[in-house]
Formats: sequence, structure tokens, C-alpha cells
Amino acid sequence: MSYTNQSQQWASLQASKKHLSYDYLEKPAMYKYLGKDYETVLCLGSGTGEEVEYIAANCSPKIVYGLDNAAGLIELAGQMYPRQNTKHETIAMENIHKWLEYENLIGRVDLIYSSLAVHYIEDWDKLMGDCYRLLRPGGVLLFSTHHPIKWGSQTIRSKEKNSFLMGYTKNLKPEKGVTSFQVYGDYLTTRAIWDKLLGKIDIKYYHRSISTIFSEVQKAGFLVTNLDEPLPIDEAKNLKNDFWAVHSQIPLFLVVRAVKPN
Ligand SMILES: C[S@@+](CC[C@H](N)C(=O)[O-])C[C@H]1O[C@@H](n2cnc3c(N)ncnc32)[C@H](O)[C@@H]1O
Repeated sequence: MSYTNQSQQWASLQASKKHLSYDYLEKPAMYKYLGKDYETVLCLGSGTGEEVEYIAANCSPKIVYGLDNAAGLIELAGQMYPRQNTKHETIAMENIHKWLEYENLIGRVDLIYSSLAVHYIEDWDKLMGDCYRLLRPGGVLLFSTHHPIKWGSQTIRSKEKNSFLMGYTKNLKPEKGVTSFQVYGDYLTTRAIWDKLLGKIDIKYYHRSISTIFSEVQKAGFLVTNLDEPLPIDEAKNLKNDFWAVHSQIPLFLVVRAVKPN
């Protein structure tokens, strides 16, 4: 994982507000679920702090914690968005139980927010369990993640073309009694996938089907209230028609809202 090696580039892209998949698709889909009645908010995998800043500025919380395991991003977040009611800390989601504030916040967090970061975690049993413990009854877990239809597809990248294939072909004329077929992608198998983001950032993420995502969240005790497959917003059409056209038909991300029952 090397977000840290590309900290400055990542920060510039995020600050530009022209990151298509974020600013014209994922952020609007997540922000529409935010309320104004939070005291304590925890952002997991908060990167260079844009979401921490947005929540601090728009949801009048007493405190927003931004946690990320990339020290370079956390350092930039602190420099770019200094606020009294925010704290940016370098910590891996796998280790939130070791985080200094953890014990004090058990059962007290109003909102756990996580944008496009939970797919980097292999053990959701532990992650979802930690989120459940930290939230107060009635508290909300809101996260976005890779949509498995796109991110579980067979990916072929070259200088000329990127292909993302999910499906199969089957020869209708069996030869010697055998039907030949070819499967592209793998929707159902939970597994690690290695890829390169923006042609630069080496990532390893975990693919899960929608039913696996749903049941992992539910198993921790949450009630899933919303499961969205957001489309790009209209402004994206004029800005980059191919992005708009593709992702109006093939979902890029999934947004999940879940509540800890009272
Ligand atoms: C795609 S970026 C999203 C950043 C931010 N949430 C946003 O929407 O701008 C994913 C973030 O997850 C962080 N991340 C990856 N694995 C992590 C882990 N195990 N613990 C904490 N953060 C992690 C990365 O450092 C990166 O900042």
C-alpha cells in the first residue's frame, strides 16, 4: 500500500475538487446521508482530510477524528485543514482498538464515516465489531466501498486500452460432446486483488460480493437501512462524457448506511 509515497499527488487531486469518481459520484452519494446532530464523528481511512473538514464545517460536531494508516496523508491533512474540533491521527483500521481514545469512546460515537477505505481490510469481523462497539445505540455507520461488479471483473490494462470484464462466453456448438466456455472476472469469490490506482498507487484490496458485504455488516449487529449504487451526477456529463456514460450503466461504488439498534 503506498498512498504515503504519493501523498502530495493524492492531496492535489483531492483538493482540486475535480477527482471525477469522488467529486462527481461518491462524495455526493455519501454526503446526502449526513445529518447535523453529531457530537462525536470518527472517519476511518480519512486520507488528506477532505471529509473530516467537510463534516466539521457542515455538521456542527464537537469533534471529528480522522484516522488513516498513511502518515504522509495525515501530516498533510493536519497542515491543510487545521481546526480546533478535528484531530488527524496515523493509525490503521486494524488497530483502532489500540488507539489512545478508544476506551473512552466506546458506546459514545454518533457517526462512523468511511469513504472508499474498508475494502483494504481483510478481517471485517473485527472491523465491524470495533465499529459496533464504538457507536452509541442509534449511531450510524456510513461507508462507501468498491462495487464488486466492477472491481471483481477481469482487469486488463495496457497503454492503449483498459478492459474490465465480468461475464462469460459459451460456444453453442459442442465439439466432440464438450461445450467450450470462457469466464471473465469472478463475482462470488471473496479474495485479495492487486491493482494500480491512477497508474501510480499500488494497492491490494479485498473483493466481496454484495451479499457478503451485507451479511458481514449485519453479523456485527447492525441494521442495514440503505444500500446504494450511485450514478455520476449530471454535471459529469459535460465534463467527461465517457465517465458519465460508462458509470450510468456500470456501478463503480456501493454506499452502505447501517444503524446500531437502540
Ligand atoms: C481511496 S483513499 C480515500 C481517502 C479518503 N477517505 C477520501 O475519500 O478522500 C483510501 C484511504 O484509505 C487509507 N487506508 C488504506 N488501508 C488502510 C488501513 N488499513 N487503515 C487505515 N487507513 C487505510 C489509505 O491510506 C487512503 O487514505
